[in-house]
Amino acid sequence: SWTTGSIVEEQVAAIRARVGNKRAICALSGGVDSAVAAALVNRAIGDQLTCVYVDHGLMRKDESAQVEKDFVAATGATLRMVDASERFLSALQGVSDPETKRKIIGREFIRVFEQAQAELLAEAGAAGEDIAFLVQGTLYPDVVESGGGTGTANIKSHHNVGGLPDDIEFELIEPLRQLFKDEVRMVGRELGLPDVIVQRQPFPGPGLGIRIIGEVTRERLDLLREADAIVREELTAAGLDREIWQCPVVLLADVRSVGVQGDGRTYGHPVVLRPVTSEDAMTADWSRLPYDLLARISTRITNEVRDINRVTLDITSKPPGTIEWE
Ligand code: XMP
Repeated sequence: SWTTGSIVEEQVAAIRARVGNKRAICALSGGVDSAVAAALVNRAIGDQLTCVYVDHGLMRKDESAQVEKDFVAATGATLRMVDASERFLSALQGVSDPETKRKIIGREFIRVFEQAQAELLAEAGAAGEDIAFLVQGTLYPDVVESGGGTGTANIKSHHNVGGLPDDIEFELIEPLRQLFKDEVRMVGRELGLPDVIVQRQPFPGPGLGIRIIGEVTRERLDLLREADAIVREELTAAGLDREIWQCPVVLLADVRSVGVQGDGRTYGHPVVLRPVTSEDAMTADWSRLPYDLLARISTRITNEVRDINRVTLDITSKPPGTIEWE
């Protein structure tokens, strides 16, 4: 029988033995999985690991700055931040199709990450060192939903940050491959990661890019970020952020609806709240959030976020609806 302590010990020993005196790199996404994987590898090999964070500009409010601060404070790991938001936005220009968005974001991510890899390799090479390993926070459900060995159909082209470049010459370290999300959280806690990281709700690799129905623009991202921040704040204040699996907020950017806000008629956009309860994201049910909480969220969003004049609630389970809208 396993305990989180024994998983950590086992993985740390195995990673140490495998890596030896070589070096490893890891793409941090801001999510629990990559943070726990990186913390585990950092525990094993310390500064032989370099973490890279690609900021694609599709993160939630203040999130990138938080990753930098909280993760480094908790682990002492070496982290490089790469700001690539301009590049992602221009690659996404004019694109509305969900799968195309996912492919573009995945492709750009790999390009930016490869560039960072190349820079690290050059530096390490100059120092006579060898980077041979790539750390990924792949979980058991990722393996299953990507059709890995189970014959399950691939529903969406899942982009997990750190997705493999085609011409990869690195060996993979995937220390979470056999774990479910709740087990990963326990391992993270065991490693001393703070709640703000360990309890973080799952967030898709393509970020807010797949929560804007329609073209992704900077203005739309800013709108969605404001609405999303209010939802997260209210869920936390109500003590319900840990009860639910996650609550995507979706901007129906190509839809407009008439409203009356302040002094007159408005013609703004609706947002959809998608609170779900789940064990592992493979199935989910819509969360029965208290009406007064929903009312507070609705009032605040329509009062505080210009251009959003309607708040709606998604009451579809998974299946048939996936958790994300795209
Ligand atoms: P769906 O929408 O497929 O989402 O029901 C299931 C879970 O996966 C998250 N999700 C992703 N996570 N890369 C990720 O790492 C992705 O491309 C991606 N797409 C969806 C989603 O937030 C939910 O928790």
